[in-house]
Amino acid sequence: MAELKERTFIAIKPDGVQRAIIGEVIKRFEMKGFKLVGMKMLHASEDLLMKHYVDLKDRPFFPTLINYMRSGPVVAMVWEGKGVVKTGRVMLGETNPADSKPGTIRGDFCIDVSKNIIHGSDSVESANKEISLWFKDDELVNYTSCAFSWLY
Ligand code: RTP
Ligand code: MG
Repeated sequence: MAELKERTFIAIKPDGVQRAIIGEVIKRFEMKGFKLVGMKMLHASEDLLMKHYVDLKDRPFFPTLINYMRSGPVVAMVWEGKGVVKTGRVMLGETNPADSKPGTIRGDFCIDVSKNIIHGSDSVESANKEISLWFKDDELVNYTSCAFSWLY
């Protein structure tokens, strides 16, 4: 049953918030069958973003990326369900929206890699790290969805 409790960290970036894509993202994850177990809106601090994107710190676009992520509020979410990390990435599309297929979030709603509206964890290990970075334990909830037995 532990596989049904897999969790991923999804964040709607400042451009996604400004362009009113919050509801569409939530709708897609909800309708797929994943369960929302944590959500908050915040201005991410430089310290938090440096930790979140530490693997990219030597990339030429890193300063631009940090400024972009600090340019407005983000919506941070944790979604739960079987295979949610991998399936979540498929639902987001490729990093570069130009390579993202129609039907994916990036494929449908954005154009440029520097404004790609959403983040999703790339592995279960990264997801666990990111969730503990962005959320305190008591900001995440445990509950059973009434749809559970209709999904699994
Ligand atoms: P994310 O972490 O945001 O879900 O994106 P990702 O895994 O698909 O891509 P990653 O390599 O982790 O890159 C993180 C974010 O950095 C920005 N980026 N800009 N200018 C560029 O060439 C470039 N490359 C990456 C994007 O916002 C990307 O989502
Ligand atoms: Mg990434």
